[in-house]
Amino acid sequence: MKNDETALFETDPAQELGPTGRPWPQLPVPTAPDRSRPTRALIIALCNQKGGVGKTTTTINLGAALAETGRRVLLVDFDPQGSLSVGLGVNPHTLELSVYDLLVRRNLDITDVIQHTTTEGMDLLPSNIDLSAAEMQLVSEVAREQTLHRVLAKIRSQYDVILIDCAPSLGLLTVNALTASDKVLMPLECEFFALRGIALLTDTITKVQDRLNPELEVLGILGTMYDSRTLHSREVLERVVQAFGDQVFHTVIRRTIKFPETTVAGEPITSYASNSAGAQAYRDLAREVLARCPGA
Ligand SMILES: Nc1ncnc2c1ncn2[C@@H]1O[C@H](COP(=O)(O)OP(=O)(O)OP(=O)(O)O)[C@@H](O)[C@H]1O
Ligand SMILES: [Mg+2]
Repeated sequence: MKNDETALFETDPAQELGPTGRPWPQLPVPTAPDRSRPTRALIIALCNQKGGVGKTTTTINLGAALAETGRRVLLVDFDPQGSLSVGLGVNPHTLELSVYDLLVRRNLDITDVIQHTTTEGMDLLPSNIDLSAAEMQLVSEVAREQTLHRVLAKIRSQYDVILIDCAPSLGLLTVNALTASDKVLMPLECEFFALRGIALLTDTITKVQDRLNPELEVLGILGTMYDSRTLHSREVLERVVQAFGDQVFHTVIRRTIKFPETTVAGEPITSYASNSAGAQAYRDLAREVLARCPGA
């Protein structure tokens, strides 16, 4: 049994430590964007060359949580696996046009490729296995690293936020995503070897900053697949905070079967299980992202 003093301590938000061992920040409730000014979308790449760390899950659910705040959101499936498209109920095998066509055909209208999703205010640029051919085809192009940047420039005034779901690799497609982006968000699984690949990823980010996109900044590191019941998960998160400090988001995404279920349902957790802890976590992440990007 807890005594009253502990209960009081636990419910006082100013005192409460979040899972990252730091006090929860007081973040403002996001207001709708100012429509009196011209829009220029904030572009964020979700990137980690390790597979299965929650890039696609975070793209869908952060996107939906941002759309709930009144932002117009475009999700770009930049992985030939097409998981983002599948997770939003789109069958990649039956696509007539995809991101691939935009990369290799100059005169294609991007609005012919964009699809609306069931989430109001959130659109999708779908992809499928064709995209793997683009990696080869682009190699011989001039300014091959800027191809996605050129494609997204045409649509930037129509969205507040564009999220790019990267493939688990550091090849030319990911370099294109980083070159097109203002920020990079790195999901990191709270597992033993999670930190191993991060040096390689930060090295790639530094190279892109030096040679292609000096404006690129790290938006933050997101702990995913967190299991508070295991000492192991808590230790990994502690080490991540030791290594990266305030770059680590206070929000942590817990491991729950609800996320695989949403993929089958083809919709974000914010509508599939709107009151769940997982949905709330992505709303918290959206608040942190907006607090770190004041203009968005
Ligand atoms: N917090 C979570 N709890 C439990 N399962 C999760 C969680 N986040 C994602 N998953 C599941 O883990 C699997 C991998 O997640 P996801 O596809 O988002 O990772 P990814 O980094 O995009 O993978 P890839 O590198 O293959 O693109 C999926 O089946 C997804 O439903
Ligand atoms: Mg993925």
